[in-house]
Amino acid sequence: MPDLDSVVREIAEEMAQRPDRGAVADYIPELAHVDPNQFGIAVIDADGRVISGGDSETPFSIQSVSKVFTLTLALGMAGDRLWKRVGREPSGNPFNSIVQLERERGVPRNPFINAGAIAVTDVILSGHEPREALGEILRFMQFLAQDPSITIDERVAASEKRTGFRNTALANYMKSFGVIENPVDYTLGVYFHHCAIAMTCRQLATAGRFLAHNGRNPSTGHNVVSAERARRINAIMLTCGHYDGSGEFAYRVGLPGKSGVGGAILAVAPGKASIAVWSPGLDAAGNSHLGRVALERLTQRMGWSVFGA
Ligand code: DON
Repeated sequence: MPDLDSVVREIAEEMAQRPDRGAVADYIPELAHVDPNQFGIAVIDADGRVISGGDSETPFSIQSVSKVFTLTLALGMAGDRLWKRVGREPSGNPFNSIVQLERERGVPRNPFINAGAIAVTDVILSGHEPREALGEILRFMQFLAQDPSITIDERVAASEKRTGFRNTALANYMKSFGVIENPVDYTLGVYFHHCAIAMTCRQLATAGRFLAHNGRNPSTGHNVVSAERARRINAIMLTCGHYDGSGEFAYRVGLPGKSGVGGAILAVAPGKASIAVWSPGLDAAGNSHLGRVALERLTQRMGWSVFGA
């Protein structure tokens, strides 16, 4: 078995030097300023050992990676009733696509495309004030990452709110079918803010540990969800976590993973490790280019793919 420390070190060295860096997201103006020459990785093994490299302590906008955690919270609140509001099939379309919504009567394909994540946020919001719902999501992230210093980048949230015409369209369209219960402005406000949570690779990998260990953080002993629920969230990450790039990610990396347009990917090697990588340049499907390459190297070298060595 290759030594994880040297594998991570070699990956960080290779990624720092590669010329192909992808393109930063510019539809959220605040993200367009981020330097694409950054790369970070943090791997936390079953014993809680953190192996990190590159810019692993630099905070970034977690964006759609937050959808894994809002899905976890919403399942805790609504249980299987959540699946009346959102499906769990891959969409085969870009993350912000609107076309399927009409044919499927306002019920989004899965909780990770924007429409689905907005519907999930709406479930968390129901019965609360937007501020309370957002506080709940932020505290959940702080609890999972074991770090109360995690905050929301208000400039990113405001930047997305100013330019979020597509998400506004998606939310209004779902509202017309009764899939959104709360005022559209409220639901979108909470959604934009949870996408704007800022975290480092180390914090994100810590937050994802329960998914790698049957719903439980093995270091703190906290049971976050049942083993069955963790397994199912991982299944949705594998099939839908990279939108219309999910097949390619499964083929190359072979792990459940969730990407965000800030350039982060959270990946789960069941029983072995929770992994966060970050590099702001994206590929055509809106997923971190070097993040994916780095994970491909890691799973190949360590034999960690869920599909076999
Ligand atoms: O709603 C949006 O467009 C962003 N807040 C999140 C999209 C995203 O991260 C897609 N992921 N790769």
